[in-house]
Amino acid sequence: MQEPRDGHERQGAHREDVVVLVSDRRERAERLARGIALVLPCRVVEPGAALPADRSIAFVVDLATDLAADRGSAWIMWLAERIRESGLPCLYLARGNAVQDTAAVRLLGAPTVIDPRQSAGIVPTLMRLVAEGKAREASSAKARKPGGGTPEVRVERATTLVTRLFDKAATGWPPSPEEVEEGTRIVLDTVSEVGIRTWLDLVWRHDIQVYQHSLSVAGFAAAFAAELGFSRNDRQRLAKAALLHDVGKALIPHAILNKPGPLTPDEMAVMRTHAALGADLLARESAFEPEILDVVRYHHERLDGSGYPEGLKGARIGDLVRLVAICDVHSALTERRVYRPPLPAAEAAAIMQAQAGQLDSDLLRVYRPIIFRAGNAAGGPSVLS
Ligand SMILES: [Fe+2]
Ligand SMILES: [Fe+2]
Repeated sequence: MQEPRDGHERQGAHREDVVVLVSDRRERAERLARGIALVLPCRVVEPGAALPADRSIAFVVDLATDLAADRGSAWIMWLAERIRESGLPCLYLARGNAVQDTAAVRLLGAPTVIDPRQSAGIVPTLMRLVAEGKAREASSAKARKPGGGTPEVRVERATTLVTRLFDKAATGWPPSPEEVEEGTRIVLDTVSEVGIRTWLDLVWRHDIQVYQHSLSVAGFAAAFAAELGFSRNDRQRLAKAALLHDVGKALIPHAILNKPGPLTPDEMAVMRTHAALGADLLARESAFEPEILDVVRYHHERLDGSGYPEGLKGARIGDLVRLVAICDVHSALTERRVYRPPLPAAEAAAIMQAQAGQLDSDLLRVYRPIIFRAGNAAGGPSVLS
């Protein structure tokens, strides 16, 4: 491998926390570095150079070089590996070419992507990423302590991961498989340790409804998988599918997603696109299995053919989809709506039982105890399933 050149200029003798700007466009890099330096120390790294000796806190990658074609370049491969290994926030400035940008995103290990034409957004986004990176480091340091941190710390971490998942999806990029794995692991471990009721109490303290809904459905899925006696692998797959099931909502306009009243038929049609949009988005990342994509695309299908997007019936709806659909309906019924408090367990159980022609009745029977165990958790704000 070609060794990076030595002699990268360092400013100041002491080590400090710096943003590393990787760029092959010197003039642009200087301009951008000046903007970043207003809020955080910044070092520019040009192709072939070594990384600064200072402690890096984030990377900004602005390369005109085609990373797809340049995979053979030892320096690019070396750099991408350092960035991936570091686990630090990375902001990739998109070139506007989908093929090249997708290749770069894969190589860099799922960075945050921003369109540099909105250059006013680069520094604020970077500041947010650095702040999130520090919070993540602090919470994972706590979570690494014996016992894995308190359930509160773990739910906080899971919420951060789900926030990042939706933020990334909103920019049109699939979420990072590693972060989805970590979020899923937290849900499984915490639900098995503290139970579904405590999980919901903790999740519902956070007030962003779509994140809360994802974590609630994932919690129900973890409890359901345990009730069914699933293996660790199957539990992981079910909880992951549940965590991701509404990822397509990141692509639905806020005015529709957060509308406080009922949706008009046109708005409902837009809302319903979230299922296919989410599945198409995840399909861009090969790490997400076909069964997970099916859950995202078909979780609103119903056994009698009354669901959407395709009106699938009976046997055409897979097992994992049936399981998540039950958790999703339960979560929607028991979250607090603007126009009504969360439904009590007995009422939710009765409504779900009445949907036995639409939801799998054998699975509903197994699920029933979870409805009562989740019982009178605090309830979240309004959310549509
Ligand atoms: Fe949904
Ligand atoms: Fe949902």
